[in-house]
Amino acid sequence: MGLSLLAGCTGFESLLDEKEVLIGTQHATKTAVPQMADYDMDWNVFFEKEPDDGEDVAAAEDDTEDPANEEEPAEPADESAEPEAIPVVANPGAMNVMVNKFWSLPEGYRPADLIKPNVLFSFGDENSDRSKLRAEAAESLEIMFNVAKGEGIELYARSGFRSYETQEAIFKNEVATFGYEQAVLYVALPGTSEHQTGLAMDITAKSVGLELVEAFEGTAEGKWLAANAHHYGFILRYPKGKTNITGYAFEPWHFRYVGVDVAEEIYAKGLTFEEYMGDVREF
Ligand code: DAL
Ligand code: ZN
Repeated sequence: MGLSLLAGCTGFESLLDEKEVLIGTQHATKTAVPQMADYDMDWNVFFEKEPDDGEDVAAAEDDTEDPANEEEPAEPADESAEPEAIPVVANPGAMNVMVNKFWSLPEGYRPADLIKPNVLFSFGDENSDRSKLRAEAAESLEIMFNVAKGEGIELYARSGFRSYETQEAIFKNEVATFGYEQAVLYVALPGTSEHQTGLAMDITAKSVGLELVEAFEGTAEGKWLAANAHHYGFILRYPKGKTNITGYAFEPWHFRYVGVDVAEEIYAKGLTFEEYMGDVREF
């Protein structure tokens, strides 16, 4: 399948030219990662999507934005949305917004305060979406990278903010390369990626060739991040062995800013973000 999907996607190749292709070939060889087939559910029905259709399915229409609500769990913003659509969060601008396979962002959502932190990037110095985070997260990331550097840990930022269109291109490329079942374990459907919030950064190091691979977990840099990121408001969002809760494979590189208080509590209690928010729907 996959390749026919690419053929119908006008502009897709040029979009990918200027964006990173995530993960590369590494996860095709992984064996410890649970496969979608391991779960007793029909994933195509779950995602309301045929694997070959290549159409957008993730984002619902939304006309409600309430960035001021920092504390409450997200609620559906539009009760009149099509029943098959993934509900849209009411608080896309909140630091604790939960975006996952059950909660999506308003289509076209783009935070207004994206800035580029002064850190090393795997792709060098460029003024692009992927080098940016929302201001609070960017400032904290910069402090975290500086502290790490002072302790002999050299971190590289690899993928920050993504637009809906970029996430769509990455998802389609992943499907074309690895197949639908593997793609949905590693890449969020457009509209449902934390990268679209401007609060997530994929982090890597030279020890793994600046790639996003599971082996990052065993490196000095990966260990440092897992043990320290919470002090700077970041959580390891997709922990090992929690796929049944997060819906994603272990991603030792994906760090999500939630603020220091929340991150400290999540770390101390060993929770996933879904558990912290009290909204767990086991796969
Ligand atoms: N890799 C994470 C799940 C994303 O695509 O947002
Ligand atoms: Zn990520």
